[in-house]
This record gives sequence, C-alpha cells and structure tokens, in this order.
Amino acid sequence: MSSAPRTPGEPAEGAAPPTRDSRGTKPGGRVTLSVLAERKTLGEPIVMVTAYDFPSAQVAEAAGVDVVLVGDTAAMTVLGYPSTVPVTLDEMVMLAAAVRRGLTTPLLVGDLPFGSYEGSNERAVASAQRFVKEAGCDAVKLERGGQSAERASAIAAAGIPVMGHVGLTPQTATALGGYRSQGRTAERALEVARDAEALQEAGCFAVVFEAIPTEVTDAIMAGMEIPVIGIGAGPATDGQVLVFHDLLGIYDGHTARFVKRYAAIREKMVAGVAEYARDVRERRYPEPGHGYTMAPDEAARLRELLAEPAAEREPFGGTW
Ligand code: KIV
Repeated sequence: MSSAPRTPGEPAEGAAPPTRDSRGTKPGGRVTLSVLAERKTLGEPIVMVTAYDFPSAQVAEAAGVDVVLVGDTAAMTVLGYPSTVPVTLDEMVMLAAAVRRGLTTPLLVGDLPFGSYEGSNERAVASAQRFVKEAGCDAVKLERGGQSAERASAIAAAGIPVMGHVGLTPQTATALGGYRSQGRTAERALEVARDAEALQEAGCFAVVFEAIPTEVTDAIMAGMEIPVIGIGAGPATDGQVLVFHDLLGIYDGHTARFVKRYAAIREKMVAGVAEYARDVRERRYPEPGHGYTMAPDEAARLRELLAEPAAEREPFGGTW
C-alpha cells in the first residue's frame, strides 16, 4: 500500500474543509470528549460512523468524521452472523485493534457485545478494559438502555468513558418485539426518556438514540445535557451515526428505513472482480507490464541448465 503519510488532522483530498473545531479544538488535534461537549453547546452536528477494519478506519479518518464506533454490527457486516448476538468480545477486540491502526483523529469507541457486560459490574469493567488496553479504544458503548445504567456507572468509575444506547437496542431485539421502532406510545416513549436520563445520570458522556419517533426525540432532547447521537431518531439530535456498509452500499442485506445510501460500492466491487475473472479466463491478464524480467544471458543459461540431464547438473549452491 503506497498512500503518503499524513499529519494527524491534515484534511485528505476530497474531505470537507475543516471548520474551526471540526477536527478538534486545536488544529490537528484529536477529537476528545470535551470537543464533543463543545459541539453540543455550539449546536454543531457530530458525525459518527462505524468501522470494522484498517481500510474502513482510514476512510473514516480521511473523510474527517468525529467519532468512529467499532459497532457490534460487525457481526453481520463483516463476520456474516445472522444477528449481532453471536459476536464475541475476542472478535470485537481484534476488529477494534485493526481500526485503531488506521485511525488518528476521531474518537474511537468499542461496542461491548452481547454477554460481555450484563452479568456483573466486574465483568463489564473487565470487558471495557480489554477494548482500552488491547485495542487502544478511547471509550466503550453498551446497549440495553436504562437497564445498563449501573454497568455504565461502574465502567465510568473505572476511568473509561462510556456511551449509552436507548430505543431499539438490537442485542435484545427479540425482547423488544423485533427490529422495530421503539417508543411509539406515550408510555413506551416515557420509558425511553427515563432510560436516557438514567444513562446520563450514570455518567455516560453521550448516548445513542436508535429508531424512535422524531416527536419522541424532540420531547426528550430538552433534558439531555450530554451529546445525543441519532440513528433513525430524526434531526433534533446532536449528531448522526450510520453503519459504514449501509451508507456506502457494501452490505447486501436488508437495510432499515433510516439508512441513506451515499454510494453503491458493492456493485463496483462485484464489477471489478468480475472483470478480473473475465481477463484471467480470456488471458488478457497479466499483461507484459505486470511481470518481472530476467537478463537475456541468464535466461539463455537457464535454458541450457534445464536441457542438461539431471545427473550431470552441479548441485545448486546458495540458499533459497
Ligand atoms: O453496532 C452498531 O453499529 C451500532 C450503531 C448502529 C449505533 O450500535
């Protein structure tokens, strides 16, 4: 790979020009929790995207996003599981470490997978510590809405910034009646509001609102002092998050109503690989320029050597 090294914070070709604090309060600075809090105060939208490996992290970095989440959606988008439930902590930490290697400026958040934090505060802290120690994450995220407030509080007390998640929390989609929007009655909406408040009080630095009616978000936002990042929660949140594979059109499966496709990369990938396959089958690849050459006298000598009966050949010297 031959991309020229960039100074952290230097905008890549094609990236949106940085505004005063679009890449951190100081030019070239990393996005920190205080940058995000300042964004909320100034009413400047926060951009969050998921990434699951080194190249997607490099893309997020070059595009100038603020927060990168190594989401447990990796289970489906890159590991091929049918839902987010089977992905393990080991798998998530491995993916997060790859993302870290491709990322400098955005805040990096690791998503605690199903089964890695619910059992006890000790388990939650130990899992969060693995994201920080082994993968270099800046923060972690947990699901289960307000039921996770105690775990969130324990993780925050252990010195690890934590992000909450309310509304549709896919790890418990079955208990929530499937992959459907949450808070559609006043009573259920009140529960979503209470969940968000509980996570805020527990010390979360931010919270994700997923798949809740716009009216519910509008009503809850007044009580939110921490940044709220929405996904299918309307425009009133402090920022938005989308899954990398959804927004770029890499994922072939069903996508939710809130997904906006900004590219059709999968089609381009299939077309590229299909063209390569055609070229190989029709002997159009490789072309002369793709090969290595040997000096003519060496090539002639090789032919002589190969023509000699094996018994007469000098044993090959040197090492391979
Ligand atoms: O896992 C994930 O990708 C998420 C986002 C959709 C917020 O939790």
